[in-house]
Amino acid sequence: MQQGTEKRPPLDPRLDPGRMPRHIAVIMDGNGRWAERRGLSRAEGHEAGARGVRAAIETCRGLGVRALTLYAFSTENWRRSKLEVDALFRLMSKYIRKELDAIHRNNIRVRFLGEMDRLPARAQADLRHCLETTAGNTAMDCCVALNYGGRTEIARAARALCADALAGRVRPEDVDEDAVAARLYAPDLAEVDLLIRTSGEMRVSNFLLWQISYAEIVVTPTLWPDFDQQALCDAVFEYQSRSRRFGGRP
Ligand code: FPP
Repeated sequence: MQQGTEKRPPLDPRLDPGRMPRHIAVIMDGNGRWAERRGLSRAEGHEAGARGVRAAIETCRGLGVRALTLYAFSTENWRRSKLEVDALFRLMSKYIRKELDAIHRNNIRVRFLGEMDRLPARAQADLRHCLETTAGNTAMDCCVALNYGGRTEIARAARALCADALAGRVRPEDVDEDAVAARLYAPDLAEVDLLIRTSGEMRVSNFLLWQISYAEIVVTPTLWPDFDQQALCDAVFEYQSRSRRFGGRP
């Protein structure tokens, strides 16, 4: 990963630096199919996917994107075989131990979105270490959604609002969009400008349901392990070519 401050040529001269998405979210899909096509195991597909994570972080950092959120494990992914789930969490821990120094040197703050307390103890310890090490970094937020579900996130915010109401801190007339948004996992994150899904499926899959309200969606047939710097720049180029109206008319 490159260091923070030196002048670098633009990653893609087609891109307008003044119109970068503030927050890119990615549904990293297709590791299994990538592996199957090569006669490899699903775990090997996820290993290849983890290498793609580094490319995505580096590219966003190079483009000046302020936040990147990666969907690494959904609340529904527990339905996969124990073998695959265990391999995914082992990979997560291995990835953090290997990449933490570079992430920290590049002034990137890592955050986790989801219900962390249900994760394997070893993974929780590694995630906490990563969180604490990078907490003061300011160049970019890299959020990893783990044991994450969009409906769970919104239900959790509703529960927090009820608790505040019962304690007399909130009145029903205070409950508005800002009150819900303030109780999400990372309330200070900008809304998602660009949602990318790899491997061609046209689904949102319970990802950041609140935050993607006005996101531009780019679906690419490329499988996640093949989704490289150029593919990410192409997605940003497509984003910049869209006219965003937020429900209004120009
Ligand atoms: C979807 O592909 C991918 C996942 C459920 C896991 C994503 C995890 C990684 C990219 C690896 C590690 C992540 C980090 C943040 C270090 P799939 O298995 O559903 O693919 P398929 O639809 O082709 O079967």
